[in-house]
Amino acid sequence: MLKNIARSIVTLLLLLIGSVNLTSGYTLRGTLPSNLQLSPKLIESTYFTLESNNTAIADKKAFIQRNRDFAFHNVSVGSYVVNLHSINLQQLSYRINIEEDSVKVYDYIAGNGWESLGHRVPYPIEIPATPLINYEVPRETFSLIEMIKNPMILMSLASLVMVFALPNILNNLDPETVQALQAKQARAGNNDVNHIQKKINDFDMAEFLAKKTSRS
Ligand SMILES: *[C@@H]1O[C@H](CO)[C@@H](O)[C@H](O)[C@H]1NC(C)=O
Ligand SMILES: *[C@@H]1O[C@H](CO)[C@@H](O)[C@H](O)[C@H]1NC(C)=O
Repeated sequence: MLKNIARSIVTLLLLLIGSVNLTSGYTLRGTLPSNLQLSPKLIESTYFTLESNNTAIADKKAFIQRNRDFAFHNVSVGSYVVNLHSINLQQLSYRINIEEDSVKVYDYIAGNGWESLGHRVPYPIEIPATPLINYEVPRETFSLIEMIKNPMILMSLASLVMVFALPNILNNLDPETVQALQAKQARAGNNDVNHIQKKINDFDMAEFLAKKTSRS
């Protein structure tokens, strides 16, 4: 009788210890390279995710701490991938196996299935020093020179010059030449000046500018 009670108590204790272990879980740690300049922007934009192949285990997220460490708390035994997300650091992943008494970290081989493991690497995870990526792309600004370099604009500018310059040139010519020119134009049956004028009228500046700005 006493023996049975003692056995029950021991079983109960073991169960309790087991459940404590289960709820506290493991803490998975890693650190960033010591020579990495931690700008506020980098700290803000960098985080780690922990994903399991067991869909019952929710993904976890961890941010960089002041001592350049990161940690996932309450991680249960299982298989995981840690991903580094950042706009300044190279994307990186590790394959992690958490067992009852050990944490094993491997390089992640993309697209090779969950079972395949890369080289074993030390734990806690040490993120290697890589050059910072600067994704900041200069905004395209409105530039008059760029606009003038556009063939459409060049064409209409040339036409404009013609429209305004031609009458002046004609006025300055002697009457004989003017007559000859007019005769020639009449023969061609196509009034160049009117033709150019029409082209300019057809060119929709607002539409052109809208296209130009929506590209940026
Ligand atoms: C740890 O995770 C388990 C499930 O894996 C959960 O039941 C428990 O509440 C968690 N404990 C803490 C302290 O977050
Ligand atoms: C997750 O991966 C581990 C190791 O490859 C495997 O033993 C386990 O069965 C997998 N679990 C699930 C839920 O797929």
